[in-house]
Amino acid sequence: METFGNDIHKIIHGDALDALKSLPDSSVDLIFADPPYNIGKNFNGHIEKWKTEEAYLDWCYQWLDLCIQKLKPRGSFYVMTATQFMPYFDIFLRKKLDILSRVVWSYDSSGVQAKKYFGSMYEPILFCVKDKNNYTFNANDILVEAKTGAKRKLIDYRKAVPSVYSSEKVPGNVWDFPRVRYRMDEYENHPTQKPIALLERIIKASSNEGDLVLDPFSGTFTTCFVAKKLNRNSIGIELQDEYIKIGLRRLQLADEYKGEKLHRDVRTFETEKTANINQTTLFEPNGTYIHG
Ligand SMILES: C[S@@+](CC[C@H](N)C(=O)[O-])C[C@H]1O[C@@H](n2cnc3c(N)ncnc32)[C@H](O)[C@@H]1O
Repeated sequence: METFGNDIHKIIHGDALDALKSLPDSSVDLIFADPPYNIGKNFNGHIEKWKTEEAYLDWCYQWLDLCIQKLKPRGSFYVMTATQFMPYFDIFLRKKLDILSRVVWSYDSSGVQAKKYFGSMYEPILFCVKDKNNYTFNANDILVEAKTGAKRKLIDYRKAVPSVYSSEKVPGNVWDFPRVRYRMDEYENHPTQKPIALLERIIKASSNEGDLVLDPFSGTFTTCFVAKKLNRNSIGIELQDEYIKIGLRRLQLADEYKGEKLHRDVRTFETEKTANINQTTLFEPNGTYIHG
């Protein structure tokens, strides 16, 4: 296990179970866990498929328990997995945490166009807390347009003094964010990169500036990248060398890795000149993500 970075942003290169065990108990404000889904994805030559579903779930139950152990008493835990495994996570976690929302991340197109069944166009996310009476939820930081009332300027006559409907609301549990595509600025070379906008909503809602955000399966380090932009501290854990390099570069923690200069892969439509786009341009000066 090797560690990079500093006390504010740390990258741990190693196995999630070992790395999680090395962290102090009750030390993390927010955990976002996006593990391998046991569906045969290729993570840089490593095919993530367990011998049996039971073996996958046994492994998951171990790191789920460790995540709970590392969360502060007021902490929040967001966890993803494939639709077919989420019911097991739900039953396991609801005995140990309060599940406040069962979120559906809905997107516009799947990689494979199903013709003989209904293609999967969403991924589930559980939002859990340790103490449902005492947890961070910054509703005002994640408001979205309340389309119906605001657009049509309807009056709410049920109020003592009739007034126009609010133009903003806390999002419901169906979240529409496009998947990360090859031509998007934020794209990195990873099969299951999560969008900046998705992590922005989670981190803004469930943590405050200076809080510690942990991602045990960091991949392209989207969680830590967004945490940094929003002035949170972060710890990212990842097994694969290739993805550690992405993390070091995205978090600006190193210029090179084992003697290799770190730079974004040049995509087929890019010239050398535009390849090293400064990713801070995705944010307003106050840290708000500019939606494209
Ligand atoms: C679903 S991806 C995470 C993607 C990430 N959320 C992002 O936005 O890029 C899961 C990641 O877990 C890593 N991984 C798989 N097994 C691991 C383990 N035992 N410990 C740490 N990381 C692991 C894989 O290499 C992969 O990058």
